Amino acid sequence: MEHLIYSNLKKQEISGIRKFTSMLVDYPDAINLTIGQPDFPTPNHVKESAKQAIDQNFTSYTPNAGILELRNAISQFYKEKYGLTYNPQDEVVVTHGASGAIMAVLRTILTEGCEVIVPAPVYPGYVPIIEMFGGVPVYVDTTSTYFVLTAELIEKHITERTRAIFLCSPANPVGTIIEEEQLKEIAKLLKDKEIFILSDEIYSELIFEKTHHSIASFEGMRDKTIIINGVSKSHSMTGWRIGYTLAPTYISKEITKVIAYFLSCESSISQSAALEALTAGKDDAIEMRNEYKKRRDLVYSRLVSMGFDVVKPEGAFYIFPSIKKTKMKSFDFCIELLKEQGVATVPGSAFSNYGEGYIRISYAQPIEKLEDAMNRLEKFMEKFK
Ligand SMILES: Cc1ncc(COP(=O)(O)O)c(C=O)c1O
Repeated sequence: MEHLIYSNLKKQEISGIRKFTSMLVDYPDAINLTIGQPDFPTPNHVKESAKQAIDQNFTSYTPNAGILELRNAISQFYKEKYGLTYNPQDEVVVTHGASGAIMAVLRTILTEGCEVIVPAPVYPGYVPIIEMFGGVPVYVDTTSTYFVLTAELIEKHITERTRAIFLCSPANPVGTIIEEEQLKEIAKLLKDKEIFILSDEIYSELIFEKTHHSIASFEGMRDKTIIINGVSKSHSMTGWRIGYTLAPTYISKEITKVIAYFLSCESSISQSAALEALTAGKDDAIEMRNEYKKRRDLVYSRLVSMGFDVVKPEGAFYIFPSIKKTKMKSFDFCIELLKEQGVATVPGSAFSNYGEGYIRISYAQPIEKLEDAMNRLEKFMEKFK
């Protein structure tokens, strides 16, 4: 009866990252630079608050949009950090990680045949969901704009079917950010258009030198922007599965219905932990960010000295060097690097065809491991001289 499976689901493949990481079992001693999650533990005070929630029997269903205390904390966090005001009563929805937010938002706005513009190379969590909901992804090649989605590029891809545009800043897999001036240009372009902006800000707390700006803060944007964020990266809480959306009421109330009927609500215990993270721990990311910056500096300078063409990341914990000079396919490059030197990285092709010719290195690993990995990569590169 396989033919009865929903075709838009069946055609989806397991993510290229997962495919590659599943091979790592055969190389137990490899240095794993494929990981898209912080290597720090969840802060202790956050863990304690979850234990308390259990002890106090805070273990029941919660409101569909999440407990009001957490929605208050999210609203306060965004106000303090990024100067945006959202009403916790009806403009904030707690979701199943940022992934759950992406799912709920796309379910809310897509109908068959709608186009969604995505920056490419692209985070692998957008396109399959767009397609599962009958939408059509429109890839915008950002390789010639230092991996930044610009207003000019967006304009070239807008049609009368464009329903939404994904912005991802800081971006996975490239670590670049969309600067304030560039956001202003995008806002100018979209101001009078009936197009939603899906602003994935999951790495907003992990920007090194500059400050985070949300597109929602620009003139005319708040009413059409849906901010997607969560505590996975800012508080090293990927397994707790708490994300959220910030959007005007007319959108948030529909997103809440998706949560209500698909999921009921998020875990009460995880919500308690996220509440602690975004209140007592609202600056927890600073220490991790400082550490990522040191690692970024190390990996970037080593790659440059090895002769890689590489854009210096301004946030997140990824770097995306070009391997075009080796003339190898990214998948083959990653396999050989793993087999010969025991270093695991992700082929750029896992992030769409536009990522071919690159590899993604995650520097969410201790500095000593990164140094070792760079030494091994340097040895590997000798054969291409
Ligand atoms: C750009 C981007 N958006 C969303 C997510 C999903 O985050 P979460 O773990 O909160 O679902 C990730 C995770 O790697 C990501 O890189």
